[in-house]
Amino acid sequence: MEDRIEKILKDANVPFEFIPLPEDLPVDVPSHMKFYRDTMQHALATMIYKTEKGFIAVSRRGDTKVNSKKLREFLGIKRLSLATEEEMTGLGLTPGLVPPLGLEIPLYVDKKVIEADYFYDGTGHKLFGLKMGVKDLLGVNKAIVGDFTTYEERYTKKRVLSGITPSGNTLHLGNYAGAVKPQFDLLEKGVESFYFVADLHALTTIQDRNRLEMCIINNVFDYIALGLDPEKGIYFRQSGVAEHSMLAIVLANYIPFGLTNRMHAFKDKLARGVSKEKINMGLFNYPILMAADILLYKPGGVPVGEDQRQHVEFARETARSFNKAHGEIFPIPDPLIEKGNMSKVVGTDGERKMSKSLGNVVTIFDEEEVIRRQIMGSYTDPNRKHASDPGKVDGNPVFIYHDIVNDDKAEVEDLKRRYREGKVGDVEVKESLFKAHMRKFAEARRKRKELENNIDMAREILEKGAEKARKVAEETIKEVYKIVGITNKLNS
Ligand code: ADP
Ligand code: TRP
Repeated sequence: MEDRIEKILKDANVPFEFIPLPEDLPVDVPSHMKFYRDTMQHALATMIYKTEKGFIAVSRRGDTKVNSKKLREFLGIKRLSLATEEEMTGLGLTPGLVPPLGLEIPLYVDKKVIEADYFYDGTGHKLFGLKMGVKDLLGVNKAIVGDFTTYEERYTKKRVLSGITPSGNTLHLGNYAGAVKPQFDLLEKGVESFYFVADLHALTTIQDRNRLEMCIINNVFDYIALGLDPEKGIYFRQSGVAEHSMLAIVLANYIPFGLTNRMHAFKDKLARGVSKEKINMGLFNYPILMAADILLYKPGGVPVGEDQRQHVEFARETARSFNKAHGEIFPIPDPLIEKGNMSKVVGTDGERKMSKSLGNVVTIFDEEEVIRRQIMGSYTDPNRKHASDPGKVDGNPVFIYHDIVNDDKAEVEDLKRRYREGKVGDVEVKESLFKAHMRKFAEARRKRKELENNIDMAREILEKGAEKARKVAEETIKEVYKIVGITNKLNS
């Protein structure tokens, strides 16, 4: 079989690798992936099925399982069963060692396979593995791609993690829709969640201890008032777990200067005309510390807004680079970013993303009068001069804000329809937005007022959370120190 596969691949002129395997390696996918020091998402498992139309081969990713109902529907068949050992031998195949190439029966490849760049599979011989590109496989084989698997729970990483930089008492609708609400939803769904106040990151801009302390405490009030349950989620401050800084120092050695130099936090400042002489190294190193924040907990996902995608990408790159040197230590985390308007909520200027530094915000906890002013001053549809002109709803900030805060969906639909038809004025839309905002956050605003006198409680929540977070963080640092060759009292 290998000879045949080798010929097919050589004729097609695509790169591939035959990998010699130890004789005692068990014939199962997890053992092979452990040997390759790679994850199940890069394993291809090819199975032979018997159907009323004959035998077929089906390739799926190692971290997925075939959903037989979906596969039957896709193939338009009724009968589907795995081929027996005799049937496989009859086809000239070795049970358990089916290669994805050189088969004389139709091959179906699951769609999720295409999300990976390369894969490992068997060559049909116990002592040789095959590694090649996914696109090359599809180029060489006449495979049919379909959607017929679901993820295998066991291999999908469930933990999530996110941080928020404390830089003022101004949690806004962008933070809420793009980050805080998706984070709370995950927690409600029972996903193990680590959320922290990134106080070390705040040092890039705040160099006044009293202000920093106020910002940190305010963040706790915001999160607790909005409903974070510190018993359910692990909520803490970054500096409360020294391992964040420890890991950052190690990871810095696996990150190219050029990559860091291209990160937007730093580049944006340069673009705004701030000279390199004035930009502090904390800002330059920001993504390195953030990569450490993330990888320390080995999460599967990082719920953040679109503006943080580049930083999560940077953390993924860092994990790959470290894994390349030392084996599969860090799972590659996915950015979990909302779809559409909520990934990057537009500001009241109707132009840029809502951001506290741009002052184009609708906040959650400011005084009523402040929020009313923010809403009334918001940009709407610039081409609409009179209430009787048909207006644009898509991308219109006030309607995006309605979608975030107004739980009365019938009212929102009615306003949108009347707006499109030129039957409602901006003022009415904004008035009802203001009322909806007050309804939505009434309980949170009341609770926050109540909490405000209780700074000790806020500190205690962070400290208790840090105790729990440290347990995970210590494990990772022990593992990392050991593997890079630093031994001390932590891991000897
Ligand atoms: P800001 O830009 O106002 O300083 P932060 O940087 O503190 O906000 O962001 C905290 C979290 O909120 C991050 O996950 C960020 O991606 C998210 N976020 C911030 N602004 C928006 C926005 N306009 N739309 C969606 N998500 C946002
Ligand atoms: N950079 C993020 C922000 O400004 C905060 C942050 C720090 C973070 N470390 C993180 C987010 C790790 C997610 C994961 O909002």
